[in-house]
Amino acid sequence: MSLERFTLVVARLHNQKALFATDVGSGLVSRPKTLPCRYFYDEEGSALFEEICKLPEYYPTRTEREILEVRAGEIVALVASPLTLVELGSGSAEKTRLLIESILGRQATLRYIPIDISQDALKQSSQRLVEDYRRIEIDAIAGDYQEGLGRLPMASDGTRLILWLGSNVGNFHRDEAAKMLRRVAAKMGERDRLLVGIDLRKNRQILEPAYDDSQGVTARFNLNLLARINHELGGRFDLSTFHHRAVYDENIGRIEMYLVSDRAQQVHIDALGMDVSFAAGEAIHTEDSYKYSPAEIDALAEAAGLAVAGQWFDQRRWFSETMFVHQCARLP
Ligand SMILES: C[S@@+](CC[C@H](N)C(=O)[O-])C[C@H]1O[C@@H](n2cnc3c(N)ncnc32)[C@H](O)[C@@H]1O
Repeated sequence: MSLERFTLVVARLHNQKALFATDVGSGLVSRPKTLPCRYFYDEEGSALFEEICKLPEYYPTRTEREILEVRAGEIVALVASPLTLVELGSGSAEKTRLLIESILGRQATLRYIPIDISQDALKQSSQRLVEDYRRIEIDAIAGDYQEGLGRLPMASDGTRLILWLGSNVGNFHRDEAAKMLRRVAAKMGERDRLLVGIDLRKNRQILEPAYDDSQGVTARFNLNLLARINHELGGRFDLSTFHHRAVYDENIGRIEMYLVSDRAQQVHIDALGMDVSFAAGEAIHTEDSYKYSPAEIDALAEAAGLAVAGQWFDQRRWFSETMFVHQCARLP
């Protein structure tokens, strides 16, 4: 019965396996070698990310939750009612529940449009939400950000609150992050609001363990990328010959994650018909996680043609929720 309130469209512009093969092929011949972080999230990767969120060292999820627990009402009050809730990279949507509850406190029903590249995560979280909230209707979109945004109607009569939580913006280089926000802004009307969870600059003693935990879950998450190449593209990576590394570059203000080959070796990938050579100690760069200062958030808004309409921090000022609006928009 709850399924009547849940639809899922698959918005794929490309053949997924062919795109994965092309991206892996070009990433592994580039210097330095790279692999795009969006491929972390197969079924196993999404489950490992949920484990990461519970680790004592991984402060971002708990800290963002702390902000939303205290501020959800205040955040929602800045958006005209009734609103439609849209979320980019929704994952388990656990923290989203705090906003959903606030919204349902002031409107009778809610349409929620989660967009995620991981179809499994999207299905599971949507099914749990329709079971738990009788007044919610979910139109989920499985696809990457670009594909999902392409399926969103242009700003219409209604009002939308668009979420991009979990410091996902940090996976983009700063200029790419501004471009991504511009793409979102192009879909926003004057009354729409964009809420982005952004991790803040802090010292390396806190940052590095968050991305290299003592239980090795983040290492498994990173290595799962090689396992995925093995399963989906007939790769012959021996995972025991690579290790995970996470380092903070304080000047750039980003965590960099790598998979490092412990020895010189050649790895064959069937689907690509190629052998990839690794020198001992050679690394594949798999993810960046940019950290922001409040001034850098202002600069991001400016570069994206947006203005900051509200900003909330946790008590330690480790994480921020920032609400963006069109520069010409007026608050309700
Ligand atoms: C770091 S998790 C955050 C999940 C959730 N928003 C949270 O705050 O806990 C990133 C989520 O974004 C999704 N994702 C990553 N890259 C994506 C992309 N390029 N397009 C769409 N979704 C993406 C992943 O599948 C995953 O669910």
